[in-house]
Amino acid sequence: MKDILEQLEERREAARLGGGQARIDAQHGRGKLTARERVDLLLDDGSFEEFDMFVTHRCTDFGMEKQKPAGDGVVTGWGTINGRLVYVFSQDFTVLGGSVSETHAKKICKIMDMAVQNGAPVIGINDSGGARIQEGVDSLAGYGEVFQRNIEASGVVPQISVIMGPCAGGAVYSPAMTDFIFMVKDSSYMFVTGPEVVKTVTNEEVSAEELGGASTHTKKSSVADGAFENDVEALAEVRRLVDFLPSNNREAPPVRPFFDDPERIEPSLDTLVPANANTPYDMKELILKLADEGDFYEIQEDFAKNVITGFIRIEGRTVGVVANQPMVLAGVLDIDSSRKAARFVRFCDAFEIPILTLVDVPGFLPGTTQEYGGVIKHGAKLLFAYGEATVPMVTVATRKTYGGAYVVMASKHLQADFNYAWPTAEVAVMGAKGAVEIIHRADKNDPDKIAAHTKEYEDRFANPFVAAERGFIDEVIQPRMTRKRIARAFASLRNKKKTMPWKKHDNIPL
Ligand code: HXC
Repeated sequence: MKDILEQLEERREAARLGGGQARIDAQHGRGKLTARERVDLLLDDGSFEEFDMFVTHRCTDFGMEKQKPAGDGVVTGWGTINGRLVYVFSQDFTVLGGSVSETHAKKICKIMDMAVQNGAPVIGINDSGGARIQEGVDSLAGYGEVFQRNIEASGVVPQISVIMGPCAGGAVYSPAMTDFIFMVKDSSYMFVTGPEVVKTVTNEEVSAEELGGASTHTKKSSVADGAFENDVEALAEVRRLVDFLPSNNREAPPVRPFFDDPERIEPSLDTLVPANANTPYDMKELILKLADEGDFYEIQEDFAKNVITGFIRIEGRTVGVVANQPMVLAGVLDIDSSRKAARFVRFCDAFEIPILTLVDVPGFLPGTTQEYGGVIKHGAKLLFAYGEATVPMVTVATRKTYGGAYVVMASKHLQADFNYAWPTAEVAVMGAKGAVEIIHRADKNDPDKIAAHTKEYEDRFANPFVAAERGFIDEVIQPRMTRKRIARAFASLRNKKKTMPWKKHDNIPL
C-alpha cells in the first residue's frame, strides 16, 4: 500500500511540473506565473480540487506519441472565492504552448458543464498558442465544443476570461463570448491573425502589442473590459469582481456586511453641479458618494469614457451603475458609449442585478462620423437594453436630460421604477441655445430678442418640474438625500416581478 501511495504522489508531482522546470523558469522569466500558481492565487487557500490531472492526448501524428504530458496543457477544477463556488480552467503554456487538443478541450468542457449544472461562475485563464497544430481538425472540433458551451452558458452563469499570454486565431472567440475579459499589460495578446499574417495579407507592419495588446483592446477595440499591471493584480481583481456577482441567473447577488449607513446624508452633493450649465463636474464623485464605503468596480474604464459603467453596493447588495460623464464630451451618447452601456445593462438584467442610472446627457452626438458608423442602430441597442430590462431600475437626473437621450437613459417611458431628479435637472428636447435658433430663426439677427427668447425657454424648460407635473419624474429630491432615497427605492423593489410577452428571443439591433 505504501508503494502505491508513493507512486500516486510521484505521478502527481510529475503532473504538477507541467512542461518541466526549464519551461517554468522561462515562464517566470517573462514575468508570468504558471497555470497552477495562477489558480492558487485566484482561489481561496487550499480550496482547489483538480479534475483530470492525468488526462493525456491521443494524437499519434508528428511523433506526438512520444510526448504525452499529464494534464495535456490545461489545469481544470473547482474551488471557492471568498467561500463561493467557482469553476476554473488555466492553460499551461509550458506544455506544448498551452495549445488546445481534443482532450484539452474536453477537460474545459467538463468543468463548463459542471458549472452550468451546479450554477457557479466559470473563470478561464487563457495562455495558449491556439489550436494544437499536430491534431488538425480534432483540435478545431474541440474549440467548437467549447464555443457551443460558452453560448449555452451565456446568461446562465457568469463567465470571466483572463488573458495572460498569447490568444490567437479562433482561440479569441471563446473569451469573446464570455461576460468579461481582462488582460495583463505587456504580456497578453488577442488577435484573429498575428502580425506576420497581417503583413502577408495586407502589407501592414504592426507589432503584436499594437495589434492586440491590452492597451489596444481596452482603449480602442473595447474587446477587453480591463487591463492590469501583472498576473497577481489581475487575479486579485477577478476575485473582487466575483464578490459582486450572483453565482447564476436564478440566485441573487451575495449580500455583504456593510458599515456605511444607507441613510447617510451627503451635504457636499448639494454643490456638485456647477452654476454654469456648461461647466463639467466629475460624475464618479457622485458614484463614490452613493456607494457603500465608496467601493466602485468599474467596467471598461478606458473606453468611451463619456459613459461610466460598473458595480457598487447599496445596503450590501450589488447595484449596476450606468452614468453619463460630463467631463468627457459633455457626457454625450455616441456609438461607443451606447454599445458599452447596452452590454452592461444586458449583463445586469440577465443576472438580476438592479440598475442605477445617473443622467446628465446633452443628447446624441451629431455628425457624419456617427451617422456613417450607424449611431442609429448602436444607440438603439441601449434603448432596447433598457426597455427589455425587468430588474429594479432607479434613475436620478442631475442636470441635462435632453431629447432622445432623455428617453433612452432609463426614463419612466422605458418603465424605470423610480425616476428622481435634482432641482438642477433640465428635462427638455434640447438646450435653450439650440432650441431658440430653430424656433425663433426669424429673430436671429436681433440679439435682444434672442436673449429674451432664450430666457423664456430656460424659465419654461430648464428645470425638472414640467416633467414632474406629468409624473415622468416621480420626485424632485435634494442632492444630499440621494443615497437615502435610492437605498429605500431599491429596498422597496426587492420583490419586483415583471414579465415580458413570450417570445423565442428578441431581435436586438446588432
Ligand atoms: C502546437 C504549439 C502551438 C500550437 C505553440 N506551440 N503553439 N504547439 N500547436 N498551436 C509550442 C511550440 O512549438 C513550442 O514548443 C512551445 O509551444 C512554446 O512556443 P514558442 O513558439 O517557443 O513560444 P513563443 O516564442 O512565446 O511564441 C508563442 C506563440 C507561437 C506566439 C503562441 O508559439 C505561435 O505563433 N504559435 C502558433 C500560433 C498559431 O498559429 N496557432 C494556431 C491558431 S489557429 P517547444 O517544444 O519548442 O517548446 C487556431 C484556430 C482555432 O487557433 C479555430 C477555432 C475555430
